[in-house]
Amino acid sequence: MNISFEGQVAIVTGAGGGLGKQHALELGRRGAKVVVNDLGGALDGSGGSASAAELVAQEICDNGGTAVANDASVTDFEAVQAMVDETVANWGRIDVLVNNAGILRDKTFSKLELENWHAVLDVHLTGSLNATKCVWPIMVEQKYGRIVMTTSTSGLFGNFGQSNYGAAKLGLVGFMNTLRFEGAKYNVFTNAIAPIAATRMTVELPGFEDSAERLAPELVTPAVVFLCSDKAPNGRIIQAAGGRYYSADIRENVGVDLGLDASVEDIEKNIDTILDMSSNAGILERTPHR
Ligand SMILES: NC(=O)c1ccc[n+]([C@@H]2O[C@H](COP(=O)([O-])OP(=O)(O)OC[C@H]3O[C@@H](n4cnc5c(N)ncnc54)[C@H](O)[C@@H]3O)[C@@H](O)[C@H]2O)c1
Repeated sequence: MNISFEGQVAIVTGAGGGLGKQHALELGRRGAKVVVNDLGGALDGSGGSASAAELVAQEICDNGGTAVANDASVTDFEAVQAMVDETVANWGRIDVLVNNAGILRDKTFSKLELENWHAVLDVHLTGSLNATKCVWPIMVEQKYGRIVMTTSTSGLFGNFGQSNYGAAKLGLVGFMNTLRFEGAKYNVFTNAIAPIAATRMTVELPGFEDSAERLAPELVTPAVVFLCSDKAPNGRIIQAAGGRYYSADIRENVGVDLGLDASVEDIEKNIDTILDMSSNAGILERTPHR
C-alpha cells in the first residue's frame, strides 16, 4: 500500500455507521490507530447508544488494526476535549480528524422551526468546530495534521427543504477556507469532501432507489482517505459519488470596473456582464487580505 497511516492516529466522528464507518475501517486497515466516535443516535439526532461505535472499533481490531470507541456528542465541547485528551494520553498524537458526524431535520423554510435550524447547525458546524478546536493545538505543535470537513451539494448548490443543512454545510467550506491559510505553515491541511452515498440519510430520497451498490459509501472513502494522507492538497473540495471523483470550488468572474462614482444605474446597465460567469477568472490563488 502506497498510502499508509502506520504510526498515525485518526479520529473519525459519526463513524458508527454510514460513511464514517467506511472511513474508519479503511484508515484502520492502512495502519492508523482509530478513535471511532459516534453518539449512536437516530437520523434526527435524538437518542444515543455507544454500541454503534463499539461495533466498528471491534471490526477494526478484528481486521488486525487498533481502535477504540468513543460516544461523545460532537456538540459537547467538554466531552470532545476529553476524547482528544484521552487519545493523546493513550497514543501520543493526533494526525487525522474527519469531521463526519451529521443529522437531518429537513423542512421547507416556511415550516422550519428555529429548533431544527439550531440542532442541525449545532451538529455539523459547531460539532466540526469543537473537534477541530481540540485537535488544532496538537497538530500545530507536532507540525502535521490533516482535517477533512464533510460538506454537501446541498450547501454548495442548494437543495429544497434543506436551508438549515445547506447553511451548515457551506459554513464548513468557509471554515475550511480560513483554516487552509492558518494551518499551511504548520503542515496542517484542511480539505472538504462532498459525498453522495446510499446511507440511512439518503435511503428515502428520490433517485436513491436500488442505490445500495451503485452509491456504496465505500466509494466515497478513497477520496476521504487520500485527503487524510500526507499527499493531500490544502483547501480543496472533492465530490465523490458512485466511483466518480470531481472538484467544486468558489469562483469569481472578471466583472467590470465602474470607477469611484459607480451608481445603481451603472449596475443596471452592466448587470449582464457582472453576472456573466463565462468570463471566469478561474480558481484564484486566494490570499486572505485582498
Ligand atoms: N449520504 C449522503 O449522500 C451524504 C451527502 C452529503 C453529505 N453527507 C454527510 O456525510 C456525513 C455522514 O452521513 P451518512 O450519510 O453516513 O449518514 P449517517 O446517518 O449514516 O451517519 C451520520 C453519523 O453521525 C452520527 N452522529 C449524529 N450526531 C452526532 C453527534 N452529535 N455526535 C457524534 N456522532 C453523531 C450518527 O449517529 C451517525 O452514525 C454527514 O455529515 C452527512 O451530512 C452525506
